[in-house]
Amino acid sequence: MKLLIIGATGPSGQHVVDRALKSGDTITILARRPEALRDLQGKVTIITGDATSHGVLVRAMKGQDAVIVTLGRGKSIRAKDLFTRAAKGVIGAAKLTGVTRLVWLSSFGVGDTFLDATIVQKFMYRTLLRDLYINKEASEKIIRESGLKWTIVYPTALMNGPAKGIYRVSDRIKMKGAPRINRADVADFIHKAAHDDKWIRRNAVITD
Ligand SMILES: NC(=O)c1ccc[n+]([C@@H]2O[C@H](COP(=O)([O-])OP(=O)(O)OC[C@H]3O[C@@H](n4cnc5c(N)ncnc54)[C@H](OP(=O)(O)O)[C@@H]3O)[C@@H](O)[C@H]2O)c1
Repeated sequence: MKLLIIGATGPSGQHVVDRALKSGDTITILARRPEALRDLQGKVTIITGDATSHGVLVRAMKGQDAVIVTLGRGKSIRAKDLFTRAAKGVIGAAKLTGVTRLVWLSSFGVGDTFLDATIVQKFMYRTLLRDLYINKEASEKIIRESGLKWTIVYPTALMNGPAKGIYRVSDRIKMKGAPRINRADVADFIHKAAHDDKWIRRNAVITD
């Protein structure tokens, strides 16, 4: 499959690239810091630019079977409209280039998934993560109304351990305790979802 991965210099995106390389996909990466992808030279096509830039998105999207977005704000708790700007850009470019499949990494607690959070999670989402979550929710409204074949993935707290190969994924999961999941397992699911029709136009909550 021809995959465009946006956010590949981040820790979750790196796992998605590893997973896609193992399965033999043809990978294009849109990144604003191509120097962070030195190890991938020769294995993937790299397009340099910002994930909110229309021209770059159109160039990267041409000929792709699916686009995977693992964008994030790193350690910042301010969204700076990244998610809404990227959603509009990605959807606009997808429509121009005829790409229909989008797998979008969000966060558990955004939108309706908030209803299934623990009291502790709800407190975090309403305080520290509030600004990020408001913009993520707005971006997901844009995605749901886009007409694309989207899947929005909602992981609990992300960890950096190796893939366990066992995780729970469902439209809704009522949380208990301190749920978490390794980025490598999230990447495995994202990759599978992009190759499969099962998760089209569905929320995928994922946790250990
Ligand atoms: N941390 C958690 O526990 C947790 C839990 C659930 C969900 N999430 C969500 O999961 C997602 C991924 O998180 P992560 O920690 O793996 O990654 P991250 O550190 O947030 O990485 C973000 C990626 O997005 C890229 N990016 C940001 N703005 C960009 C722009 N304008 N143009 C191009 N690229 C841009 C970054 O590029 P640069 O390398 O150039 O900065 C990087 O590749 C985020 O949306 C996060 O909110 C996180």
